[in-house]
Amino acid sequence: MKAITVEPKKAGTARYMDMPVPDPHDGSILVEAIAVGVCGTDVEITEGKYGWAPPGQNHLILGHESLGRVIDPGTASGFKKGDLVVGIVRRPDPVPCPNCAVGEWDMCKNGLYTERGIKEIHGYMSERWRIEPEYAIKIDPSLGILGVLLEPTTVVTKALEQIGMISRRSFWEPNRVLVTGAGPIGLLAALSLKIWGVEEIHVLDRMESGAKPDLVRELGAVYHSGSVADIGFEPDAIVECTGVSQVIEACIQQLGPNGILCLTGVGHGGHMTRAGTADMAASAVLRNTVIVGSVNANKRQWYRAGQTLAKADRAWLAKLITRREKPENFIKALERKPDDIKVVIQFSEV
Ligand code: BGC
Repeated sequence: MKAITVEPKKAGTARYMDMPVPDPHDGSILVEAIAVGVCGTDVEITEGKYGWAPPGQNHLILGHESLGRVIDPGTASGFKKGDLVVGIVRRPDPVPCPNCAVGEWDMCKNGLYTERGIKEIHGYMSERWRIEPEYAIKIDPSLGILGVLLEPTTVVTKALEQIGMISRRSFWEPNRVLVTGAGPIGLLAALSLKIWGVEEIHVLDRMESGAKPDLVRELGAVYHSGSVADIGFEPDAIVECTGVSQVIEACIQQLGPNGILCLTGVGHGGHMTRAGTADMAASAVLRNTVIVGSVNANKRQWYRAGQTLAKADRAWLAKLITRREKPENFIKALERKPDDIKVVIQFSEV
C-alpha cells in the first residue's frame, strides 16, 4: 500500500512509499482514502520541526484532515459499505487523565494523548486506512469531497465554543466578532459564526484582492485588509487564526471591554514591542478581558462541526479547495502559493 510518510524531526524525509496495509487491530472499519487536506502542521512535520513516529518505528504516515469511503464496515453497526467517513485525530491518553477519561481528549492534562498523522499514530495519507467505529464520523453524503473540510471545522467549532462558554460569565454576549486571517481556519470560523447566528462578523487578512475578500463578502461579513488597529471598532471577541506575533499583540490592544481573544494559530518567535506585560495585565484587569488558547476538538464538537458543514452553501465551500494534487505530487501540495486556501491530496474520486 502506498502512503506519504516522513521520518519525524528530520527535514526533507517525506516520501511516497510502500507501507504495510493497516492491521485490523487499528480499527474494524476499512476505508479507501478519497482526499486528505494539507495544513501548516503537516508542513511543520515535513520541515522536521514537529511530529512523532509510532513507538519503535522510523516512519510516520502523515495526514490528519481525512475523507474516505468505507469498503468494509467490519462488524460495526451503524456503518455500511460506501459511507463517507472522516477519522477523528486525537486519541485519549492511556492513564487516563480526568479529561481523557470523559472523552475530552482535546483538553488532555498529561500530554500523553496521541494524534493520527502527528503524534505516535499513523495518519490518513495512505491508500487504505482503518478506524475504530467510535472515532469515525459519518458525513452528509451530499458534501462529497467537501467532507475533507470537517477536521479544520472541528478546530474552529471548539474555539467558538470556548468563546461562548467564557462569555456566559456576564449578562453580555459577544455579537461583534473579528476573525484574523482568512485562511481555511479563518474562513471556516466566519462561516460557523454566520451559521450560528452571530450578528456582525468581520474578517481581516493581508490580501487586498482575490478569492478571500469575495468569500468573506459572500457570507455577508465585512472584509478588512491592513492592520487590526485600523478596523475602526473594538470587537467583543476575536478568533485569531494567524499565529503572527504582531497581529496577536494588536488583537490584545483592540479587544473591547469584557472581550475574549481566542488564539488558534501556532506561530513562532516575535516579541512584545509596544506593551509591557504589567500594562497588558492592567488593561486585562480593568477591562475584564480574556485570552484563551484552543487546540483540537472533542467528539461533541466533531458532530457540531458536521452539522455546520451540512448547512453550508456547497458552492461557497467548494471555493475553499483551491488545489487538488495527486499523492505522487505531494511535494507540490506542501508548497504554499499566494492564492491557496485549502490544498488537498486526492487519492480517489468521490
Ligand atoms: C490539528 C489538531 C492537533 C494540533 C496539534 C492541528 O493541526 O488540526 O487536531 O491537535 O495540530 O498537534
